[in-house]
Amino acid sequence: MSDRIAHAGLRGKVMSADEAAQFINHGDSIGISGFTGAAYPKALPTALANRGKELHAAGKEFKVNIYTGASTAPDCDGVMAEADIINYRMPYQGDPSLRKSINAGNAKYQDIHLSQSPQYIEQGFLPIDAAIVEATRITEEGHIIPSSGIGNNVEYLDNADKIIIEVNSWQSLDLEGMADIYRIQRLPNRTPIPINAPGDRIGTPYIDINLDKVVAVVETNAPDRNAPFKPIDETSQQIAGHFLDFLDGEVAAGRLAYDQYIMQSGVGNVPNAVMAGLLDSKFENIKAYTEVIQDGMLDLIDAGKMTVASSTSFSLSPEAAEKMNNEAARYRKHIILRPQQISNHPEVVRRVGLIATNGMIEADIYGNVNSTHINGSRVMNGIGGSGDFTRNAFISSFISPSLAKDGAISAVVPFVSHIDHTEHDAMVIITERGVADLRGLAPRDRVAKMISIAHPDYQPLLEEYYERALKKAPALATPHDLRTAFDFHINMIEKGSMKG
Ligand code: COA
Repeated sequence: MSDRIAHAGLRGKVMSADEAAQFINHGDSIGISGFTGAAYPKALPTALANRGKELHAAGKEFKVNIYTGASTAPDCDGVMAEADIINYRMPYQGDPSLRKSINAGNAKYQDIHLSQSPQYIEQGFLPIDAAIVEATRITEEGHIIPSSGIGNNVEYLDNADKIIIEVNSWQSLDLEGMADIYRIQRLPNRTPIPINAPGDRIGTPYIDINLDKVVAVVETNAPDRNAPFKPIDETSQQIAGHFLDFLDGEVAAGRLAYDQYIMQSGVGNVPNAVMAGLLDSKFENIKAYTEVIQDGMLDLIDAGKMTVASSTSFSLSPEAAEKMNNEAARYRKHIILRPQQISNHPEVVRRVGLIATNGMIEADIYGNVNSTHINGSRVMNGIGGSGDFTRNAFISSFISPSLAKDGAISAVVPFVSHIDHTEHDAMVIITERGVADLRGLAPRDRVAKMISIAHPDYQPLLEEYYERALKKAPALATPHDLRTAFDFHINMIEKGSMKG
C-alpha cells in the first residue's frame, strides 16, 4: 500500500474502485473533484459506469446526479455519459460525449456561475449523498492534500454523508503547499474575505474532513487529461497583437502601469495564445487572479514575467502537466490553488481590479455576448467563471476570431442567440480585425465599432441589418428589426451558412 496514506484508520479503508462504487446508489447526488482535465477522480467514474451498465443490463435503474468543480475528462464525464448514468449535471462541462448526451435530452444540465455553485451545496438547495475527491496524499491527521485542483472539494466534503478519497500517486508530492483552503462563513454571518492582492494566503494547505464519513480510500496512478492546445495560428497572433496594443493604450492613458497588470484569462485556445504574446511585451510583474493555470502562464512564470498566479486548478497540456509534475517545488513559490468560491469571488475580483479576458461564441452589434449556445439552443460548454469575472472586473474583454467553421459563421451578429454577458458587462471586444472599445458608448454608438471588427464578408450584411433596424425604430435607444434579427442564425440552420 502506498505510503501516501499516512492515517492509520484510513489505511484500513483501502479497497478497489469497484468495491467503493457499491456505496453509491441509484438516485444519489455525488460531488466530485475535478476542474478541467485536472484533479478529477480517475477510477470511480469508470467503476460507476460499469456498475450502471450491469444494473441497466439487469433491467434495473441506475442514474446519479453529478456535481463537479467544472469540466472533467473523457475518463470521468465521458465514461459516465456513455454509460448513460448521469441524470443531472452541474455547474460546467466540456466533454464531447456528455455534450452529446445533454443535447440529445438524456442528461439534464444546469450551467451555473462557478463562484455560486458551492452555495447551492452549502445552503442546501442541492443536498449531496457522497463526495468523491482526488488527493495527492492523506496526512497523519487524516487531512487531505489536494491534487492539481481544488474546485468545490471543500463544500462537497463538508456536506456529503459519505466520503470516498482517491489517492493518486501520479500527482506530484511537491504540490503540497500550493493549496490555500479557506471557508466562507454561512449566511447570515458572512465577513469580508481577507484577500487584498492575488498572492495573499489566508488558509491552510490541506482540507480537514470528518473522518467518520470516509467509507473508502482507493489508490490510483493515472494522469490528468487535458487536450493539447491548438497550435497558435496567424489569427490568434493577430488577436493577441490587438489585445496587447489595447493594454499599451491603457498604460498611455494612465489607467494601467507596465508592472500593474492583474490578469484573468479564460479557458480556450485564443486566451492561451494571448499569453504567448505577453512574453514579448513590456509587461513585468504580471499577476493572475484567475480560475485555471494554462500552459501560457507557466511560460510567463519561467520567463520571470509573471510573479504570482492564483487560481483553483491547472488546465495544462500533457507536456506542461509532466513539467509541473517534475518541477512543482519550483512553481509552488508562484502558484496558489484556492477553492473556486474564492478564486472567482466577485468581492475579491472587484477589489484587486483585474482585466478579464475570455473567449466567446458570438457578440452582437450592441455588445451582448453569447459564450455558451450555438444557434440559441445547442449548449457548447457553459458560462464557467466568465460571468464571475466579466461582471466584476476593472476591464472586461472578449476575444474571438471573426469567423468560425471556414467562414460559414460570423462571430458578430445582429442579435446574439443566447445572452451570457449583457451589453452592460462587456466592455471591450477583440477579433483579428481590431478592437471594439465599447466603454462609455450608448448602444447606437457601439454599432460602427462592432461592425468594424466583423469579417469583411459579413460587414455589408450587418450594415444592411442596422439600416433596416433604424427604419423600424429610428428614435429608439436600441434599434432592432425583430423579424430579421435572427436571420444569420436561421440561415445557418437552414442553409449551412450565416450568409444564406
Ligand atoms: N458557432 C459555432 N461554433 C463556434 C462558434 C459559433 N459562433 N464560435 C466558435 N465555435 C467553435 C469553433 O469552431 C471551435 O470548434 P472546433 O473545436 O470544432 O474547432 C470551438 O467552438 C472552439 O472555438 P475556438 O475558436 O477554438 O475558441 P476557444 O477554444 O477559445 O473556445 C469558447 C471558445 C467560447 C467555446 C470557450 O471560450 C468557452 O467555452 N467559453 C465559455 C466559458 C468561459 O469563458 N470560461 C472561462 C472562464 S474563466
